[in-house]
Amino acid sequence: MELIDLLILGLTLFFLAIWWRSFIVINGGGAKNLPPGPPGWPLVGNLFQIILERRHFIFVIRDLRKKYGPIFSMQMGQRTLVIVTSPDLIHEALVQKGPIFASRPPDSPIRLLFSVGKCAVNSAEYGPLWRTLRRNFVTELISPVRIKQCSWVREWALESHMKRLKSEALENGYVDVMDVCRFTVCSILVFICFGAKISDDWIQDIDNVTKDVMLITIPQLPDYLPILTPLFRKQMKRAKDLRKTQMECLVPLIRNRRAFVEKGENPKLEMLSPVGAAYVDSLFTLNAPGRGLLGEEELVTICSELFVAGIDTSTSVLQWVFLELVLNQDIQEKLYREIVESVGKDGVIREEDVEKMSYLNAVVKETLRVHSPAHFTLSHATTEETELGGYKIPSNVNVEFYIEWMNEDPDLWKDPGIFRPERFIDGDGVSVDMTGTKGKVKMLPFGAGRRTCPGLALGLLHVNITLARMVQAFKWLPAPHAPPDPTEAFAFTVIMKNPLKAVILPR
Ligand code: HEM
Ligand SMILES: *[C@@H]1O[C@H](CO)[C@@H](O)[C@H](O)[C@H]1NC(C)=O
Ligand SMILES: *[C@@H]1O[C@H](CO)[C@@H](O)[C@H](O)[C@H]1NC(C)=O
Repeated sequence: MELIDLLILGLTLFFLAIWWRSFIVINGGGAKNLPPGPPGWPLVGNLFQIILERRHFIFVIRDLRKKYGPIFSMQMGQRTLVIVTSPDLIHEALVQKGPIFASRPPDSPIRLLFSVGKCAVNSAEYGPLWRTLRRNFVTELISPVRIKQCSWVREWALESHMKRLKSEALENGYVDVMDVCRFTVCSILVFICFGAKISDDWIQDIDNVTKDVMLITIPQLPDYLPILTPLFRKQMKRAKDLRKTQMECLVPLIRNRRAFVEKGENPKLEMLSPVGAAYVDSLFTLNAPGRGLLGEEELVTICSELFVAGIDTSTSVLQWVFLELVLNQDIQEKLYREIVESVGKDGVIREEDVEKMSYLNAVVKETLRVHSPAHFTLSHATTEETELGGYKIPSNVNVEFYIEWMNEDPDLWKDPGIFRPERFIDGDGVSVDMTGTKGKVKMLPFGAGRRTCPGLALGLLHVNITLARMVQAFKWLPAPHAPPDPTEAFAFTVIMKNPLKAVILPR
């Protein structure tokens, strides 16, 4: 540690001590009726206890859930976290008390760098900017008209997808499901966003940058102890370099598209979708409350959001589906039969066909239940003091919703650990509503309420159609040298620790 770091640390402790004393005065020594939680240390609360546990936050939370029940709280440095785990309380907060729980907590400087001060659907605080960006997202990306208009993009991307599967199998003897799917989902999203068909290398670059951005924006110490930010100078430097790379990667796409939209220029003939059909077109003229017309920094952030939120999630679902199909050949056969009955052995599967495949839908839902890509929603923040589960929830605290917990609740699901798509056809999954808008809440893989995932329809469409094509064309088997391993690892989403490798045989 450098001398300057020691100096900063000393000053930090000094200011923290002052802050702690005023904190105690304001909070009456913690006598408020906050949800229960583990006792913390002075100044830092539970923060260092969590760090010293040296295991993923999720495991700590799971133990605390057993001890304190469906709602509990932790003091993480300067931030209070309230963790909500039961479906009833999650529904009450996100739907019934929606507006109060609909904001986002403050960000660390690194996260602010990538969000240009919270200027994207996922990061914006609850208010006019968020409302405008979200409304634009919904009309431009998931209106039925738009989805139809873009279906040829998926057609084209899936054609290369099938070719890549074949060539990878030929070259290695197996395919890495995640790898191939990532590239396909990324190319679809890039096209939908910029309307341009670009080189494979460029798409790969965008995917690489996306992965790095996700890693560097994972919450770290300064998110909870902003006062420690100066100790993270080196990381800040790396973040600035990465932001530069991200800008260099995406700004040319934005400039080419603007020239096409405003002046009709298309020198490299990249622009294949008509003016108005690409997501970014709508952003050029958007009047963002408090920001006015968006600059290139904001455009890069809002476009990247599609990749950050859309690639890992959908691809991870696909990877888990294939793990289950490889391990449960009977389920795979049943799915294959449904596809053949619906469109024939070599028939082209259209997006309308997939919607009617009830077993395929059941397989996807069961995967979302057993292998929910997100264990938590993104962090929420309260906009005013409120009440939940009989406890007082102060204004502007972090609220973390543990949505995965209900998926493994034996009171809600029979044999919750067993992968059985049939439960969605004639068992305990029939008429389960994944959006939390009607009926009893049993699974919410996309969250619920005002901040619920706006990409649901698009993500599921990509998963459904890609899955159907892959099962129609090939029989999927475990790779003999690398047996499927369902061990989980927690990154941005819940991923497979050892990526699935599968052998494919043409049908
Ligand atoms: C299977 C795939 C997906 C899953 C499981 C998923 C899940 C989620 C979850 C759990 C949240 C947090 C909700 C909250 O904070 O309460 C979320 C938010 C979000 N997702 Fe998705 N997502 C998926 C695909 C996508 C796709 C494909 C896109 C975009 C193309 C997308 C865009 C977003 C955005 C913009 C938000 C932030 C919404 C807001 O803050 O208002 N997601 N998603
Ligand atoms: C992307 O990352 C992978 C591995 O992380 C690397 O092999 C590849 O060369 C990178 N591709 C580009 C185009 O930067
Ligand atoms: C895809 O699958 C999901 C989950 O089973 C289903 O709810 C949705 O309607 C399907 N969407 C399309 C377009 O196929």
